[in-house]
Amino acid sequence: MLADMSPPRHKQGFCVWFTGLSGAGKSVTAEALIALLLERGRQVTLLDGDVVRTHLSKGLGFSRADRDTNIHRIGFVASEIVRHGGAVVCAAVSPYRAARDHCRSLFGEGRFLEVFVDTPLEVCEQRDTKGLYAKARRGELPEFTGVSDPYERPVAPELTITTTDAAPEENARRILALAGERGFVAA
Ligand code: ADX
Repeated sequence: MLADMSPPRHKQGFCVWFTGLSGAGKSVTAEALIALLLERGRQVTLLDGDVVRTHLSKGLGFSRADRDTNIHRIGFVASEIVRHGGAVVCAAVSPYRAARDHCRSLFGEGRFLEVFVDTPLEVCEQRDTKGLYAKARRGELPEFTGVSDPYERPVAPELTITTTDAAPEENARRILALAGERGFVAA
């Protein structure tokens, strides 16, 4: 009989993809999740929209075409990492369903965990950590997601989290549990 040469599942690749409005809490939840994954012995690459846009996607704007390019690039890099057994966490607004679904299609079955950070627009706007919502309301920032640009809610995400009644660590534990159920973290 041939020996199964594939590594145990907790050494195989998977991707957690956060989507949600600016200020929804994607990055802070991603950081909390990464801390938990590291504790469980998984090295993780973080592809955060804000950071990606300073190098990999430098020069891209916020038209639908540019956002799609940005998301496709993140998806491509993430899928390469996963193909080589890595864990990757992506956090980008990724407002268009088609672009997210395209990314999903780059991964093997069950390896793409879409997490919808479902924070209401009013809450993101109230937080306004970067002052961008105020700017958008003043009409100084065109194509701002949620204000003057669309956000297409996920139809069937693997997980939906809320940030108004749960701390990042709590949400991160829920995601870790899901990754555990799929075998991607050692029990
Ligand atoms: S995405 O649409 O291409 O997925 P991405 O996550 O990379 O967006 O970048 C979003 C971040 O860019 C926001 O958190 C915000 O800080 C900033 N930003 C600047 N202009 C816009 C805009 N018009 N719409 C959304 N975010 C913007």
